[in-house]
Amino acid sequence: MKKRIAIFASGSGTNAEEIFKKFHHHSTIEVALLLSNNPTAYAIKRADNFGIPSKVFDRKTFYETDEIVEFLKTQEVDLIVLAGFMWLVPQNMVKAFPNKIINIHPALLPKYGGKGMYGMHVHEAVKENNETETGITIHYVNEHYDEGQIIFQAKCELSANDSPKDIANKIHKLEHNHYPRIIEELINI
Ligand code: GAR
Repeated sequence: MKKRIAIFASGSGTNAEEIFKKFHHHSTIEVALLLSNNPTAYAIKRADNFGIPSKVFDRKTFYETDEIVEFLKTQEVDLIVLAGFMWLVPQNMVKAFPNKIINIHPALLPKYGGKGMYGMHVHEAVKENNETETGITIHYVNEHYDEGQIIFQAKCELSANDSPKDIANKIHKLEHNHYPRIIEELINI
């Protein structure tokens, strides 16, 4: 049986799509499903295009029941990949899948992490502080935002006239280059 990945995404899903592509005809790994807290997430459409089933859940189900954890168990998932997922992972899920949940963060943690630091907010803060470099962090997920053990980081240089949007583009390029590759490495450990 192939190793099975579940992806969580809340929005556009460009990272999710790169992961779908990487494992589309892979001999030992497959993306089994996409989960989202957002019924209008474009990531769902992207999954659909690859024939990958998706499941949408609401806040109450995620935080007040074991439904999602039980569902992931029945799906025999080997790795849970957060790819632009904007909600904090609840404790019951962290406990049920120790060292099996990873996240990508669009900055060099521990800088620009924590509650409220997601998506464009990160790049706006980086710009505001006149940083000359930024980057991405892939890390294990624990019950605090952006605090789990770091697995991988990559950097890019910034120029003084890069806008937050330019920074986001540089970060997306880095993410797309590295996230699928790191997932492949991790799942084979
Ligand atoms: C990515 O840059 C990802 O690192 C970030 O959201 C973006 C989603 O883009 N995630 C976070 O900020 C999580 N705290 P995508 O939907 O195009 O993959």
